[in-house]
Parts: sequence; structure tokens; C-alpha cells
Amino acid sequence: MSERSDKIGKTDPSDQSMDIAEVLKLADELLFTHTGDRLDSLQETILKGTLQGQKYAKIASENHLSEGHVRDTASELWQKLSETLGEDVNKLNVRNVLEKIIISNSVSAIGDFISIHQVSICSKRKRVPKPSPLSKPTEKHHLDIDNAPEITAFYGRYEELNSLKSWLIQDRIRIVTLIGMIGIGKTTLAIKLIEEIKTQFEYIVYRSLRYSPDIDSFLTDLLQSFVSAAAVPNTLDRQVDLLLKFLRKHRCLIIIDDLQMLFETGEFAGQYRAEFEGYYLLFKQIAELSHASSLLLITSEQPEDAICHPARCANASRYKFTRCLKLAGLGDSAKQILKDKELSDEEIWDTLIEKYCGHPLWLEMTATMIQELFAGSIAEFLSYPSLILSNEIVSQLSRVWGRLTESEKQLVNYLAKQEKSVTLVEVLQKMSDHYTPEIILNAIRSLKRRCFLEDNRDGSLRLDRTLEAYVRSHFADIA
Ligand SMILES: Nc1ncnc2c1ncn2[C@@H]1O[C@H](COP(=O)(O)OP(=O)(O)OP(=O)(O)O)[C@@H](O)[C@H]1O
Ligand SMILES: [Mg+2]
Repeated sequence: MSERSDKIGKTDPSDQSMDIAEVLKLADELLFTHTGDRLDSLQETILKGTLQGQKYAKIASENHLSEGHVRDTASELWQKLSETLGEDVNKLNVRNVLEKIIISNSVSAIGDFISIHQVSICSKRKRVPKPSPLSKPTEKHHLDIDNAPEITAFYGRYEELNSLKSWLIQDRIRIVTLIGMIGIGKTTLAIKLIEEIKTQFEYIVYRSLRYSPDIDSFLTDLLQSFVSAAAVPNTLDRQVDLLLKFLRKHRCLIIIDDLQMLFETGEFAGQYRAEFEGYYLLFKQIAELSHASSLLLITSEQPEDAICHPARCANASRYKFTRCLKLAGLGDSAKQILKDKELSDEEIWDTLIEKYCGHPLWLEMTATMIQELFAGSIAEFLSYPSLILSNEIVSQLSRVWGRLTESEKQLVNYLAKQEKSVTLVEVLQKMSDHYTPEIILNAIRSLKRRCFLEDNRDGSLRLDRTLEAYVRSHFADIA
């Protein structure tokens, strides 16, 4: 759960106002001890709002949710808390009930108390924590995530967080691949996930492959999260052995970010460079061997191999312990970004969000431009007919453009000129003067792996809108 400094103030005698973070943590721990489930993001938002005296309608509108959904989730939460505490908990009394528990922290009846840091929590009924082998919290938690970027804001992504949590905790998936276009929020989501599941693993380690380390240096560094430097073997096979032993013996979550740095540029997407094949073999072993640990791979280019292939994950028995999650835009939750930037014309925020497909980074960069040049007026900005890309967006897109093959560039250029989705047959016909069907089909698959194409259910092809704008204004004369 995130750090909070808010106070529940109003009625507390002699400044006994509770720290909201403390109360949220208490609720989280109580639920966890009783049910094995943590408070999820939406439950946390609802509880926090309720503690602050907000009505469901307000919580719903601030978080761009329907009031009915908030009401249903809240009533499930009160029900769970009631069962946990053995007394009726509802919207009106939740604050008092939880405050009382914190205040009664001085009463000591061991067995009726669950220790949370300095606070002991008294429950009315004596409870034995439910044995839950799949979600049992481990005794000691080692977090090695200093290299992970700090997140300043986090909006939406309830479904994605829930999927990742259930894959990692209930299903014990060995390799989860998080795929998405640059800046879509992959790293941010992973950090939020760590915050929410950190007690479920003995070890959580975050590493980025930003500087493309060779596998020996990577493993030498990684193993030092688990054993002392002196205990790290100096040959690759023994390093791999030690890592696998560790993954079997302990419940570890290793997050490997920026996997795309291991892939060729100027070739179809997701192919390991020859010197990085060792990573592929390591991931394959981790997917195939039996153990209780997980790897979360984060990449803007989906690897070509079957380990990380969404379509094959469900069926391939060899890789049944692998899953992929492809991240799309933030949808309605992106409104919070515009709100943070204090933009005006709220009635057309949806239009702006849709134009940039809810992409958080593009929206953040565009909102900054709107602030600087249009005094925060979205209406004025949108009076320009074409999609305007700020310099920051252009330079990010130039970087990915540089990774494409020549055939992909031609294909992207053709797609950028189309006003609507086109069929595979149309593409094959149009491009047949320049390339064989095999090259065209592989180029299309490669663009999909780069998250360059929209996910159209009917199989028709359309370029991502921001890329479309980028190509139209920069490379309109290629083909
Ligand atoms: N859920 C979110 N809520 C609020 N802001 C977000 C969210 N996700 C992403 N952002 C914003 O977008 C920025 C980019 O996100 P992030 O770095 O996680 O993207 P990424 O997919 O990891 O990008 P890259 O492929 O370049 O590594 C963040 O710095 C943050 O400002
Ligand atoms: Mg990232």
C-alpha cells in the first residue's frame, strides 16, 4: 500500500486522530490474516474515501467509476470486514470500529491479537489464521528494488493488477510477460504490484536490462541479492544451477525490466541477439522446471519465442506455467492525469484521451504542452485538426522507429496513409510489388509484437494512432 500522511480528524478526542495509512494497513492485515486476500486498489480507495467522510457518489466520480460499482464493492468489503471481526461493519461505523482496535492496542491478551509492527490488533473473536498454503505470507521478506524508479502517481489498472496478482499468487505462474508500447506504464504497474504483493514472497528483486548486460554479469549481480558475493560461482553453468536451486528452495519474484534491450535492431521484433541467447535458455529452464518462484519479464517488444507468446500460453502444456499481459491505455482513469495538470474544458477530456489512446506518457507530455502554450485549454489545443505530437513524444517514437526492418517501415508507411482499418488481403495486394507474401506476413507479425498495431478483433489492420501521426508528419514520402 502506498505511503499516506492523511489524518482522520474530526471527532477524535485530544488529537488522537488516526493516520489513515495506519488504518488502511490495519484493514489490509486483518483481511489478509482472515481470508488470505489483501485489500485491492479499489477497496483501498473506497475505504480511504469512507474514512474521510466521502459519499459513494463522490468516490465514484473522482475515480471515474459508476456509483453502483463502488457501492457493490463497498458492500462486499464491509461484509468481509464483518466476518473478519465478528461484528457488523458498515459504511457508518467502519471508522469507529477500526479506530477502537488501534486504540485498544494496549490491551494484551495474546492469541486475540495480531501484531502489526508496533500495533497489536484486537479482534472480538479469537481467530486462528486460515491456513492457505498458496497465499501464506512468508516469515522474512527481502526486497531488492532500489534500482526501480519511484512512482509518483498511479491511476486505474485495477483489472491488470488483479490478473497479475492472481497469476503470481494463486496460480503460481513461473513466467509472466508484461508487454506494451513504450511509456504505456509497464514499469509503473510492476512497481505498484510489488507494493501490493511484497509479503507473499521471500525475495523480490528488480533489475533493468537497460544497459544490456551480458548474462554472466547479470547473474553475478542478481545472485548477490540471494547470497554473499563470495558465494557466487564464477562459471555460468554453476551460476545458473545456484539460481535454480534458490528458486526451488525459496519463493522469489524476480522482475526483469527492459527485456527488449536483448533483441536485435533492424531485424523482426523479439529476436535475441546472438550474445544474449543465454537469457533465452535461462528463461526456458525457469519455465520448464518445477519450483515455486516467478519471473516477471517486462518488455516493449514481445519475444518471438513460445515462452512469452500469448496465443500459445494457454494450450502449450510445456509452457502452461507462463502467461502474458499486454497493456493498453489507461482509459477513463487517464482523466486523473489531466486533472493533476489542471487542464480546463473537462467536457472534452474524453476526446483528448481517445486521441492519444489513453497512453499515460503521451497524455502527460501533451498536457504539459497544453499548459505551456494554451494556458491549459484543451478546446484551443483540439481546434487544430491533426494530432499534434510534442518533441518529447517524437523523440521517443524515433527511437522505436530506428529498430524496424526496411519492410516494416514500408508497411507502416502504407498503413499510416489509410484512413481506416485494412484487411490482410488488401495489404498483401498493395505490397506485393515490393515484397514476397512471406516477408509481408512476417513483417505484420513483427509489428504486432512491437505493439504498433491496434488489436482489432476482426483481424483487420490499423496502425496505433500516435504512430500514424508520427509517420504522417515525418515519413510521408517513403513509399
Ligand atoms: N497507471 C498510471 N497512473 C498514472 N501515471 C502513469 C501510469 N502509468 C504510467 N504513468 C505515467 O507514464 C510514465 C511512463 O510509465 P512507465 O515508465 O511505467 O512506462 P513503460 O511502459 O515502462 O515505458 P518504457 O517502455 O519506456 O520503459 C510514468 O512515468 C508515469 O508518469
Ligand atoms: Mg519501463
